[in-house]
Amino acid sequence: MHSLFPSVPVEPTAEKFALQPVSTEQAWYGPALAQRPAVWTHVLSEADCAELRDAIAAVESRGLDVVEIRAEDFRLPRLGGVLQAMRKDLLQGRGFSLVRGFPSEGLTALQRAIGFFGIGAHLGKAVSQNAKGHALGHVADLGFDYSQPTSRGYQTNVRLPYHTDAADVVGLLCVCTAKSGGMSSLVSSVTLYNEMLKRRPDLVRVLMGPTYRDRRGEIPPGKGPWYVLPVFNPHHGLMITSYVRSAIRKAQRFPEVPRISPALNEAMDLLDALAESPELHLDMNLEPGDLQFASNHFILHSRTTYEDHPEPERRRHLLRLWLSCEGGPALPRVFDNYTGLDGSGRPMGLLLDGVRLNAPLELEDGGPGASDLRVAAVASPAHSPS
Ligand SMILES: [Fe+2]
Repeated sequence: MHSLFPSVPVEPTAEKFALQPVSTEQAWYGPALAQRPAVWTHVLSEADCAELRDAIAAVESRGLDVVEIRAEDFRLPRLGGVLQAMRKDLLQGRGFSLVRGFPSEGLTALQRAIGFFGIGAHLGKAVSQNAKGHALGHVADLGFDYSQPTSRGYQTNVRLPYHTDAADVVGLLCVCTAKSGGMSSLVSSVTLYNEMLKRRPDLVRVLMGPTYRDRRGEIPPGKGPWYVLPVFNPHHGLMITSYVRSAIRKAQRFPEVPRISPALNEAMDLLDALAESPELHLDMNLEPGDLQFASNHFILHSRTTYEDHPEPERRRHLLRLWLSCEGGPALPRVFDNYTGLDGSGRPMGLLLDGVRLNAPLELEDGGPGASDLRVAAVASPAHSPS
């Protein structure tokens, strides 16, 4: 369809493209990997932690702004090698890693932010995650009503079905766990493609066509309030996936956006059902001090609904990074429709006009702006400590 703003058209590759299963390391099955956690987990040793503390102290003493931290500012002579191997896995291999034992204890919020951001700098460049330019995101329940068009899931406590984020890699540092729930889960989107191909190749082709998605009020310069991007994007021998069903559903509020077809609904139902199959996904309980990094191109992530402790200071809280990774998988040009691609073809993040990249140390609303569509229930009786 004709767009009201500049947009890269979705090439109609679906009909002529010979569908083949993809049998790279990216096509993994959760139960097999659950048996071998050592393959995807690095437990920080005392020596690693000492190195991290030194690197944090060095950055703090220089007074560097957190968003300015580059890998060369955050020297990790020993752990750096581990992070480079992890980076290779993230971009070219399995697509995720877990690091356990980040030494949060005794660190100030600034020191914790420096440590997380510094580790992230060894993997990629942190980009903005929201309308406020947060390069260091805070994932916590701010009481927003997720059913509202401009609400984003990371600021709610609801279950987030399997989806992708906007950058090359998403990283989380668990600060506080919930009273109950909030389990993290990953699934290989390459495996989802393969499994769907076995069952319904016709629906795979539907997901290689255009899907229209709501930006939820976070509109980078030159972009419109919605964008178009296929779910499955075969490119240079890889299967690059991008999927946010809630954004596809919410885009229906725009009258010019084509209606979701019964075939697309069926395809998304099958994709969701496969992702939810215990034979495919890998569940992970993140504990304080755990860092999880996952590719958005080859992995969908989800989390279960959760209940917070009554005390606000004990609420579930994760720090988040969206990383743009030099040398990451080549992305089809149509990905420019999403957050935009930089000169190296990497995702640019959600940086809005006039907004400066920043790293809030404490939990802060990421916007977009003062929207009356995002119903804040923080002060309502339902969220008051009982
Ligand atoms: Fe996400």
